[in-house]
Amino acid sequence: MTSDATARQRISELRQQLSTASRAYHERDELLIPDAEYDALMRELEALEAAHPQLDSVDSPSHQVGGRPSSRFAEVVHAVPMLSLGNAFSEEEVRDFVRRIDERLGRAQLLFSAEPKLDGLAISLRYEDGVFVQGATRGDGSTGEDVSANLRQIRVIPDRLDGEGWPAVLEVRGEVYMPRADFEKYNEQARLHGGKVLANPRNGAAGSLRQLDPKVSAQRPLSFYAYGTGEVNGGELPATHSATLAQLDRWGFPVSDLCRVVEGADGLLDYYRDIGARRDGLPFDIDGVVYKLDDRDGQQAMGFVARAPRWAIAHKFPAQEQTTTVEAIEIQIGRTGAATPVARLQPVQVAGVTVTNATLHNADQIARLDVRVGDAVIVRRAGDVIPEVVSVIAERRPEGTQPWTMPAACPVCGAEIVREEGAAAWRCSGELSCPAQRKETIAHFASRRAMDIDGLGDRYIETLVDAGIVRGVADLYRLSRDQLLHLKLVLDAADPSALAASLKPHLPAEGSGAVLNAVLRLDGDAANWRAQALALPVAFEWNTKKIATRWADNLIAAIDASRDATLERLLFALGIEHVGESTAKALAQWFGDLELIRQLPWPLFKRVPDIGGEVARSLGHFFEQEGNQQALDALLKVGRVRIRDSHLPSAKLRDGLDLAQLLVEAEIPGITRLRAEKLVAAMPSAQQILDAEPEHFVAAGLPEDTARGLAQWLEGDNHGQLLLKGEERMRELLQLAPELAAQPAGPLDGRTAVLTGTLVRLTRDAAKARLEALGAKVAGSVSKKTAFVVAGSEAGSKLDKAVELGVEVWDEERLLAFLAEHGQQP
Ligand code: IVH
Repeated sequence: MTSDATARQRISELRQQLSTASRAYHERDELLIPDAEYDALMRELEALEAAHPQLDSVDSPSHQVGGRPSSRFAEVVHAVPMLSLGNAFSEEEVRDFVRRIDERLGRAQLLFSAEPKLDGLAISLRYEDGVFVQGATRGDGSTGEDVSANLRQIRVIPDRLDGEGWPAVLEVRGEVYMPRADFEKYNEQARLHGGKVLANPRNGAAGSLRQLDPKVSAQRPLSFYAYGTGEVNGGELPATHSATLAQLDRWGFPVSDLCRVVEGADGLLDYYRDIGARRDGLPFDIDGVVYKLDDRDGQQAMGFVARAPRWAIAHKFPAQEQTTTVEAIEIQIGRTGAATPVARLQPVQVAGVTVTNATLHNADQIARLDVRVGDAVIVRRAGDVIPEVVSVIAERRPEGTQPWTMPAACPVCGAEIVREEGAAAWRCSGELSCPAQRKETIAHFASRRAMDIDGLGDRYIETLVDAGIVRGVADLYRLSRDQLLHLKLVLDAADPSALAASLKPHLPAEGSGAVLNAVLRLDGDAANWRAQALALPVAFEWNTKKIATRWADNLIAAIDASRDATLERLLFALGIEHVGESTAKALAQWFGDLELIRQLPWPLFKRVPDIGGEVARSLGHFFEQEGNQQALDALLKVGRVRIRDSHLPSAKLRDGLDLAQLLVEAEIPGITRLRAEKLVAAMPSAQQILDAEPEHFVAAGLPEDTARGLAQWLEGDNHGQLLLKGEERMRELLQLAPELAAQPAGPLDGRTAVLTGTLVRLTRDAAKARLEALGAKVAGSVSKKTAFVVAGSEAGSKLDKAVELGVEVWDEERLLAFLAEHGQQP
């Protein structure tokens, strides 16, 4: 082939690709190829056309602006066309741009308006006699779409101009954009509720503006910056672009405060670097900066080329979106157990950084995008937001790919991965045994409201875990005074040599050299030199003149004291998802015994008032994990933790402890209490139900679809076991729980109290405990049902509310008198 034929073919390919992508983008807000790639293809086309002028053609995408207007909106013919800008990607191209102007104008000094190039949608706003009459998109540059109704929803676009002196007809041009934070917030909501996720803020802006229903566009937070003018009639604008922007600002248009007037190529390049350094911190996306010759006479003298003015140019930043390939999709388990899918990518440069991983947010997002291993995808890295996969390039999908599904087991600890009900989130249920959750679990376990191990701060826990000394909560009970003092020296030292110096006085003269050398060999720049230092085996001879040992002694005492635990605190300390203090307390009150609780199938937890399906399932999942059970055993046996207040299950449990209720609580589709009773009347044991056929269920009185549903449910994972085990545990509970005897009535039985303000003689927690001991329920907010409010000093709105509702108010004195009267010490 001759080079001409090769060029002809390549030009035709490029034109095809570019115009398809451009139409999809401008007419349907669809991104077929990322910007950077589009720009590269466009430059290749322009270069080929320049080298082969005989192959150039007026309808080439290189001479076109944007897309054709969509027929859904009325057309608006722009009196002054809306042009595009040429691009510069290097310093050299910027200097060429300035040189061209310099050569043509021959001025002593060239001043430019330098502005951020916002990544949104170009818009023209028409004002007649100072009133907004019409707004349009750019469309193909000469005809755009009338999107006035949607533009009126944008708060910062003035309906009416401020001040005076505006031309009778004034068209203001600028960019409609979606602020980054609003974009993130919008997508977070969309992901949560399964709505359409926006690929990037620009798509968000374009999509919203081209909504047919202005109410829909009103829900998407858009903003606007003015950067120029179109038609101007019946009045004058200032002679420079910068003064025009200042005038637009006075008339009420938002103008970016990043706009500057700078001199010559060096001024432009300084500006580029300055804005580039600030790019990530800006509240909106920019894809470059724009330079415009400031004076209008000069602009006129320079004139235009096909698509763009010769007096202005866009200087692009490295693109924030790039194409790459998904090599794997893995699950990352966060500190709290949240399972987040992450795409491992073929390394790619995005905005100056090599990206090898990108978040896929959650399983729903993967399903929505249908991302598969092997796919070509567009990744985006904007600002300090974690890189994310925004879309799949469907045309480039290789053969034989498979849809992705969430793995069943945690990649770190092997526990089951469970879905949070109603939410898009998945999490690992190996709370106590999952290394990924270790630090968080241990910190929670030791915290004041849990096991209350005073003095064991997060920093200590981190280093102990990193050193491998503490692997699970039970290991806390194995910590020695030596280890704690060692830890203190390690954390107090600024670097390995400082540590060696502070260790020295505590080492036996013989053999200390080896230890000190090992410490000095640690790399002080490495993140975990402290953990390594702590992991070194050292025999100490403490020199108590050189180290304060009180802290370690106190901590050992606190650890020791925590061995003597209440059931409620221990249950809370386990860190089971959704089990807060009040749930832990209720569980302790109702079941009374950890050995019993840890064997319960999940539906039985629902016997406790206020525990619903979600909390019950979470408890069930927790205790089903082998690792969690082992960690509990270690805590009780190795850690010698003892529960001091175990008791028999509450007599109140007897109510509703029957097979029919178990069937209801197991959330079997269609099974109501009434139907369950019919079923149990015909088949009084779980085994009989398991052995039955759907027609037996119908014979027992179930509707046909419910009978089928039940049969199907019974085949589901472990559902049969759940019923058998549930039945067995119920029987045990019935044996253990005492007969329902009339309980002595507390003086506050059935009454609700609210605490507010600061009490002097006792803490709020103590006041709450005393009131509860007398039968009261202590609530967080005041309502008509509140029996009385205890108001300490500086009580605020709750007290006002009580007064407003006529609820009785007690001061601290009255509370103390009441407690004393009923045998409660403050
Ligand atoms: S001036 C004749 N100034 O960039 C000059 N454009 O291809 C026309 N843009 O879609 C544009 N920020 O919407 C200009 N400060 C700025 C800009 C800007 C963003 C957009 C514009 C157009 C594209 C230029």
